[in-house]
Order: sequence, then C-alpha cells, then structure tokens
Amino acid sequence: MKIDLIVGARPNYMKAAPIYRELLKYPAEFQCRLVHTGQHYDEKMSDIFFRELELPKPHIYLGVGSGRHGEQTGKIMIAYEKAILNDQPDLVLVAGDVNSTVACSLVAVKLHIKVGHIEGGLRSRDWSMPEEINRIVTDNISDYLFTSSRDADENLLAEGIAKEKIFFVGNTMIDSLHYYMPKVEQRQIQRELGVEPGNYILITLHRPSNVDRDEIFKGLFDTLETIQRRMPIVFPMHPRTLKMLQEFSLGRYLELPNLKITEPLGYHDFMKLQKDARLVLTDSGGLQEETTVLGVPCLTLRKNTERPVTIWEGTNELVGSDPAQILARSMAILDGDVKKGRIPEYWDGHTAERIVSILRDRSS
Ligand code: UD1
Repeated sequence: MKIDLIVGARPNYMKAAPIYRELLKYPAEFQCRLVHTGQHYDEKMSDIFFRELELPKPHIYLGVGSGRHGEQTGKIMIAYEKAILNDQPDLVLVAGDVNSTVACSLVAVKLHIKVGHIEGGLRSRDWSMPEEINRIVTDNISDYLFTSSRDADENLLAEGIAKEKIFFVGNTMIDSLHYYMPKVEQRQIQRELGVEPGNYILITLHRPSNVDRDEIFKGLFDTLETIQRRMPIVFPMHPRTLKMLQEFSLGRYLELPNLKITEPLGYHDFMKLQKDARLVLTDSGGLQEETTVLGVPCLTLRKNTERPVTIWEGTNELVGSDPAQILARSMAILDGDVKKGRIPEYWDGHTAERIVSILRDRSS
C-alpha cells in the first residue's frame, strides 16, 4: 500500500510522527511518503519539530506558506494535485483540523484515492472556527475515521457516517508524549528562563477569537498582568499573536517583569515546560489533551471545546475569554483548588500501532 502522510502545521507533526515510525516497521507492506504542505514554514514552527521528532526531510514539500483561508487551502490543493498526478498513493492519511488537512483530503477524494483521518469526529459545534469546518468536511470524505474518544464516534454516527468506517484507536499525540519523554526530561528550559518547576504558569494563545480583536486581546493581557504579580508566567508566543500585539501597539506588555515571553519553542522544551507547570492557560486543542495526561490543571480560554473528554475525565476547564473568570479560577488553582482527572481510554502510547494494524488488515 502506498501511503502519503500529510503534515502542514505545527500540531500535525507530533500526531503524524508515531504513524510514520510504525509504518516503517513493515517495509514489505507499506511505502510511505511524508508530504509537508509548508502551511507552517519557520524554523520554530516547523524545522525544529522535524529534528526533535526524528522525522526525515519530507519526500514532497509543497511550500505554500501563509495566506487567507481560501487562498491557502486552494494553493495546497493545486500544489498537492500536481505533485501526485503521475505517482498516486493508495491512501492519503491526514491528521487534525488545519487547512492542510482538508485541502489534501479534497484532492485525494476527487482522484478516487482513499482518505484516512487521524483524530476524526471531534466537534466544537462552533462554525465560526475554521477548524470545525475543516473537521466536518474531512470526516465526510474519509474512508477511515480514526477517533481519539468515544464521543467522536457518537458524533460521526449522528451525522450518518457508516459504522464500518469508524475506528476508535486513541490519541497519537499522546503516543508522542510518551515516546519522547526521556528526551524531554533532559531539557533545562526552566533554568534558562529563570523559573522553578511547579512555580510558574504556562500560557499559549493564538486563536483568532482571542487575538484578532483588540478589546479581547487587551483584556487578556491585563489579566496576565495581574496574575504575574502572584506567579511568573511563561508565554511562548505564536507568530500570529506577536503580529497582533504589535498591530494593536500593546508592546508595553513585553516589559512586564514576570511575564516571560519567548519565541515559539521546540517540542522537547515545550513539553518540559508543560509537564512541570503549576497551571496551563491555553486556547490550543492539543494542550487540553496533553495537560490531561500530564495531570496538570488547564484553563481553556474558549467558550467551547471539540475535546470534551478532557473536561469530563481530565484536568481541563472552560473559562472563555472573560478576564474576571480567568482571574478567579487561576487564583483558586494557585490556592490549591485543583481538579483531579484520569487518563482517557486508549491514550496509552499505542495508538499508532492500532492504526497501522487496521491498515495491515485492510491491505492484505
Ligand atoms: C493554524 C491552524 C490552527 C492551529 C495552528 C497551530 C488552520 C485554519 N489553523 O493556525 O488550527 O491551531 O495552526 O499553530 O489551519 N506564521 C509565521 N510562521 C509560520 C507560520 C505562520 O510567521 O511558520 C504566521 C503568519 O503571519 C501567518 C500566521 O502566522 O499569517 C497564521 O498562520 P496560519 O497557518 O494561517 O494559521 P495559524 O494561526 O498558525
């Protein structure tokens, strides 16, 4: 079976790496090309992850870069179709919910190539998020839906997707968390930043709903200003967020003594920071899952989540973008009012094995 494994943006790499490694174990059965769309392209948003996750140089690099949604999705489609016209795979494997995911799936389905969606079935029910649209479209044109939680299976069934296409396998991002932990443990990032394990808060923000409107963005930074008086905050800043900080002339927040803003960090340093944080504040999807497995309290700065299992079973809580709510829950957690959780079913480090075993059954 010839497989194209697609990556494009930062959250894809750690979901795809375990699959790539697992496919390599069966060279007589699978031929896998790693395809990078170039949606993310910086050293800090892309190259460092390839090195740290021990991924090879992509076999196909589309180099599309940034752009508006239609433009970026369209460019990926044009480039990917051209790249595979003369040498088509039997299966295109996509992960998550970024524009690269939906773009390559659409190209594949129109060429009658099978599509497998890793992390299928998640739903926020919030159509204002581009990711929700990407998820729904990708799921509906996929032949294999590899789900990470039981609620995802239910979402797919409720939408009329055939049961035979749905495979509850667990979470490949958590495979990476386990696999790279020995390397993560060796990092000294806390010392480099001047913070002590267990005594700092980690924050990431990049969603348009939080960073694209100046009153919300400023409200969030005012809250961080208050919180950092109590405990240092480490803030690896996404390029989009830095761009908006400059656009809204909010550079003064870069000077706060206990708000340690860094460039985007590599996987190992970031996981080390996450693992030892007292509290994580985020609007990311992946961090809601990783904190649940690490047992670190997580406040998600969104009104909804497509990963409700992290709330039902894990350490995650939704607080929206309201400064009073964020402040109140942050302070309560620092005072010891933490939510205990457990690790969701199949988030055990063996999801890629389950996925590849399903593909082996189908290809034989
Ligand atoms: C994308 C995903 C989002 C995911 C996030 C993780 C979509 C619709 N969104 O959002 O789901 O959570 O990745 O990071 O696919 N930029 C750089 N260097 C880079 C990449 C981007 O400077 O390597 C800057 C550019 O100014 C760009 C902006 O970041 O315009 C946004 O990048 P883009 O890929 O459009 O979306 P993200 O916000 O990263």
